Amino acid sequence: MLEARQILKGATGHTTAKITIQHELIYHTLIKNFGEEQAKQYARANEAALEQIRKWVQEKRIECDFSNETAYLYTQEESSEYQLQLEQELKATQQLGIETFYTDQTDLPFDVKGAIGLENQAQFHPRKYLLHLVKELTEQGHFLFEKTRVLDLIGDGPYTVITDQGSLKAKKIVIASHFPIYDGRGLYFTRMYTERSYVIAAKVKESLPKGMYINIEQPTRSFRRLPTEKGELLLIGGNEHKTGYGGNTEKHYQNLMDYANGIYTVEEIPFQWSAQDCMTVDQVPYIGPLTSKTKDIYVATGFRKWGMTTGTAAGLILSDLILEKESPWGEVFLPSRWKPKAAIKEFLLQNAEVAQEFISGKITEKKKNPTCSHLGCQLIWNEAEGTWDCPCHGSRFEEEGEVIEGPAIERYKE
Ligand SMILES: Cc1cc2nc3c(=O)[nH]c(=O)nc-3n(C[C@H](O)[C@H](O)[C@H](O)COP(=O)(O)OP(=O)(O)OC[C@H]3O[C@@H](n4cnc5c(N)ncnc54)[C@H](O)[C@@H]3O)c2cc1C
Ligand code: FES
Repeated sequence: MLEARQILKGATGHTTAKITIQHELIYHTLIKNFGEEQAKQYARANEAALEQIRKWVQEKRIECDFSNETAYLYTQEESSEYQLQLEQELKATQQLGIETFYTDQTDLPFDVKGAIGLENQAQFHPRKYLLHLVKELTEQGHFLFEKTRVLDLIGDGPYTVITDQGSLKAKKIVIASHFPIYDGRGLYFTRMYTERSYVIAAKVKESLPKGMYINIEQPTRSFRRLPTEKGELLLIGGNEHKTGYGGNTEKHYQNLMDYANGIYTVEEIPFQWSAQDCMTVDQVPYIGPLTSKTKDIYVATGFRKWGMTTGTAAGLILSDLILEKESPWGEVFLPSRWKPKAAIKEFLLQNAEVAQEFISGKITEKKKNPTCSHLGCQLIWNEAEGTWDCPCHGSRFEEEGEVIEGPAIERYKE
């Protein structure tokens, strides 16, 4: 395993870590755009991932604050539009054999106009869980190299992997670098974008709600409890925006704090952070061969902020493919798919925005801003995090130019 910086300091170290197959509104859209069979594959793959995590936590006795929880998808809106969306999602989940139930009673400190519940989901501390697995792997003789950035892949199998620390040979490669750092003519940068979200951890006076929650309207509001040595905190997440499009990013934290103060008596906010995840234009992750032509290179990306289960599902699917077995769920995630019904609107929008960023950067010649070393878009200063963020495909850089996250692999250009 080659890691550019330090393991588990990327999105996985800054997630909210709900382990659930309830991925906001998804199943109705999946049935409509991918068909019932592939929608079932999506559900079954995520169920298998949840069970895999649960099994390892139990069998390996991993201390990672794992707890079983009921997940809720709710709305506070009375309008028929939101009610219809919930109804359709409920129907779709039940059609796929997911044991959801409808309720308008939750543990949240405000009334909801409807919610879909799903029992036996979970939450955990992903770093505690994954550090345990990594320790086990290295003890078994596997190698992990941190501070080793992959720069390129050469050849057509076995491949030479060029890194900033030297090169090595590999027969099979999995690109799990969040946004793929090697494209292999898969044109990932035309069919993916990144979205940042904000999270605060609040100590509140009232008792905390049981279960994990996310709404279906805007702005997104996501809740779960967080056990800490100093007692339980409440995680509240939301305020997402496309990377580089957040305006004054500090206002997003303030907005979450104001919201928390409106629904609870907040005593302290000991932690806050933001992070981003990769979104695909048809809402389904890309898991499988990098392209239909590249041999022995696999990719796992586009988890749409549900990577605890879909990332684990990627492990299950890719290990089958690498061992030349058929995966029962591979088809729906196949990276070379093209589902125009599901993808075309978002595809056109994202690419129009990228073209706009590219052109406006060149025309206005805001020379003070550095440009991105990926495809040359003008970077935008992120005040809250003190980073340069790329509005095109989400690369981020330290103030001084070092890459924080890709697809860029080199310093920004001044
Ligand atoms: C705010 C937020 C809340 C979320 N909440 C949830 C949730 O409740 N439940 C859920 O299921 N999912 C959630 N997600 C999504 C989930 O966290 C992500 O899908 C998942 O963590 C992505 O994992 P990853 O391995 O793809 O990326 P990362 O964890 O970012 O790992 C990628 C790694 O690749 C390394 N890398 C990059 N480029 C190179 C290179 N050139 N060479 C070598 N290494 C490289 C990076 O340094 C990094 O360590 C959330 C995401 C966000 C942002
Ligand atoms: S990430 Fe593609 S141009 Fe910056």
